[in-house]
Formats: sequence, structure tokens, C-alpha cells
Amino acid sequence: MEESDISVVVYNDRRILGQSLGEETLKSELNNNPFAYYFVMENPEDSAFLGHVSLWIDSPMAQILNIYVIPELQSHGLGSVLMDFVLEFLKQHEVSTLTLEVRQTNTSAQLYYKKYGFTKVAIRKQYYENGEDADLMLKNL
Ligand SMILES: CC(C)(COP(=O)(O)OP(=O)(O)OC[C@H]1O[C@@H](n2cnc3c(N)ncnc32)[C@H](O)[C@@H]1OP(=O)(O)O)[C@@H](O)C(=O)NCCC(=O)NCCS
Repeated sequence: MEESDISVVVYNDRRILGQSLGEETLKSELNNNPFAYYFVMENPEDSAFLGHVSLWIDSPMAQILNIYVIPELQSHGLGSVLMDFVLEFLKQHEVSTLTLEVRQTNTSAQLYYKKYGFTKVAIRKQYYENGEDADLMLKNL
């Protein structure tokens, strides 16, 4: 992800996740945060935006901040392409423990993480703005 991708990421963060760090924070993440690794997934033919993943890596620990595929193309295997990339990237960074938070009501994401071997290790109470709890998920690499 480069600065020129920020506007499309903010737009998609908001429509897919309902919230975004916003342009200024994302710019700072890209330029000033040595732990931040942000990626966009693009169609190789026309560079159209397909999805996004953001990570913080502090080896041997890492966390996924956000991961998504655009709604028009979900459930067609692209999320798996993205997660396979993340796991390979983390292996190269000698990460052994990966965590993330997911809404308890997000059934497809819950199944997605389960398929990749994440297990629920804790509940973060009232984690989301609407008061919903998050499941803290962990995968050993
Ligand atoms: C979660 C997400 C990234 C998965 O990407 P995707 O491209 O839809 O996933 P894939 O097509 O590669 O499918 C991978 C697995 O995800 C699960 N999954 C995907 N779509 C699903 C659906 N509609 N219903 C149930 N499970 C689903 C399945 O376990 C699937 O494995 P299977 O095909 O062997 O059954 C994507 O659905 C998404 O962007 N969701 C909205 C944003 C979001 O919730 N992000 C996670 C926040 S914590």
C-alpha cells in the first residue's frame, strides 16, 4: 500500500467495516510506524482494487488489524489468496503467533478464521463502538 492508495482504502474501510483510521492516521502509519505493514490486493490486469490487509508485526508476535475483500467479489476465493499471502509473509518475518479480533456475529469471517486454524482464546468485552463483544482469535504459525 502506498500513499496514493489511501483514499480507496478509507472509502472501502468505511463501506465494508463501517469505520476507518482515516487519511491522516493511515498516512502516519505508512510513514512513521515501523511495526505497520499495509497491503492492497489489486487485479493484475487493470489494477482494480480488490481488498486490503493491515498488520502490525513485532516479531514473534503479529496482529491483523483489518482484512477484507470488496463485497462484489467476496466468497470467490480472494480472501484465501489474501490470507495465504499473510501467512507466507509472516513466516518470512519469523512470526510465531498471530492474533486478531472478530465480531461474534460475523459468521463468514468466523468460518474463514476457523478454516485457517485460528482458535478463540478470549472475549474482549464491548470492543466495538456499538457495544458488541469481540472474539480474540489466535493462530500459532
Ligand atoms: C472474511 C473475508 C475476508 C473472507 O474473504 P472471501 O473472499 O469471502 O473468502 P473465500 O471466498 O476465500 O472463502 C474462505 C472461507 O471463508 C468462509 N466464507 C467466505 N464466504 C462465506 C460465506 N458467504 N458464508 C460462510 N462462510 C464464508 C468459508 O469458510 C470459506 O471457506 P470455504 O470456501 O472452504 O467454505 C470476506 O468475506 C470479507 O471481506 N468480509 C467482510 C469484511 C470482514 O468481515 N473482515 C473480517 C473482519 S474481522
